[in-house]
Amino acid sequence: MIHTIGTEFYMIRSTEEDFHRNIYLKRFIGSDGKAVNMLFDPGTRLDMGTMLPMLKEKAGGIANTNLVFLSHQDPDLTANIGTVLASAPRSYLITSVDTWRLVKMYGLPEKRVRTVESFDSMVLKMKKSGHRVRFVPARYCHFRGAMMVYDYESRVLFSGDVFGGVNTREGDGIYATEDSWEGIKLFHQLYMPSSKALQKTMEAISMLNPFPETIAPQHGDVIKGDFVIEFMDRLSRLQVGADLMEENNPEVDLAVLGINNFLELMGINFPEVRDEFLSHFQKGNDFTSPFVFTGGTVSGIKISPDNALMQIYAMIGKIENRETQQHLRAIFMDSMDQLDIHFKAREEGAPSSDTIRNNDFMNLEDLLE
Ligand SMILES: [Fe+2]
Ligand SMILES: [Fe+2]
Repeated sequence: MIHTIGTEFYMIRSTEEDFHRNIYLKRFIGSDGKAVNMLFDPGTRLDMGTMLPMLKEKAGGIANTNLVFLSHQDPDLTANIGTVLASAPRSYLITSVDTWRLVKMYGLPEKRVRTVESFDSMVLKMKKSGHRVRFVPARYCHFRGAMMVYDYESRVLFSGDVFGGVNTREGDGIYATEDSWEGIKLFHQLYMPSSKALQKTMEAISMLNPFPETIAPQHGDVIKGDFVIEFMDRLSRLQVGADLMEENNPEVDLAVLGINNFLELMGINFPEVRDEFLSHFQKGNDFTSPFVFTGGTVSGIKISPDNALMQIYAMIGKIENRETQQHLRAIFMDSMDQLDIHFKAREEGAPSSDTIRNNDFMNLEDLLE
């Protein structure tokens, strides 16, 4: 399904329920009817099935792509770049110097690239149509050279990973509601390295004139109307990444982060046990669970963080398979160690992940010949 989010600004989103990738196309149409077609973060091979029809319907095919913008270097948005440049032989890649330094490892042709920094005042003027876009740095959000693009015509800011979120809103549609915030918050706490960097990025956005009407991130919901300023305000005050590790920070957020890290690792190693865990803690409706869940992730704790962690620790103890139990205990301790979380079981002499590992289970030597 192709969504229109602004003047000649189109979007498709991947079908994953928990975490969407969004790909955008903007057409700058001149008075002579000729268009410059700009593609934003063109995804992976998995997205070809939806991206190609969008390009076909709106631009007459991928070959008519003129500009391809990459917000940063991650594979979830760059994996397609070689294919796109090859299929659109007259197209140029536009990205920051920092991103180019890395994506050129895909073996892309140097003469097909224009770096954002090479444009006067970071503004790109389209000769053909007279349109302008401004590049806005999102330094260290989450990559040193991350960039956003502001389209003056539609007043849409394409923001890359900034404002991205895991899905915590029920139902269809593409626009953010209050329910989207939990997922945005979680994504930023996990992925954005520093609160200061996030604050600086919000400041850079607030300098845009005219102010953006719509924010179009690479993941999650499109943000529009009053939510633009509201979520900017919340993000500029949010503790994220390394700042969450500092000791004097809100314990609850830290515990939530630790629990989610643990659940994620558990999902990789023992997906069925994770499902059991989730259904155990989600059972009996909201009242009996110590946790608040939003879209499969923990978004809040209703008891003291210490108590919550103890509950998980105790739950691991109930797992019958001893090897699984030991392994999960080690993963749990690792998740806590990584964030420097201390909780009561630890002080009462619960073994560290290393002790568990060195003890009696799963030596690498036992597993591998
Ligand atoms: Fe990323
Ligand atoms: Fe991303």
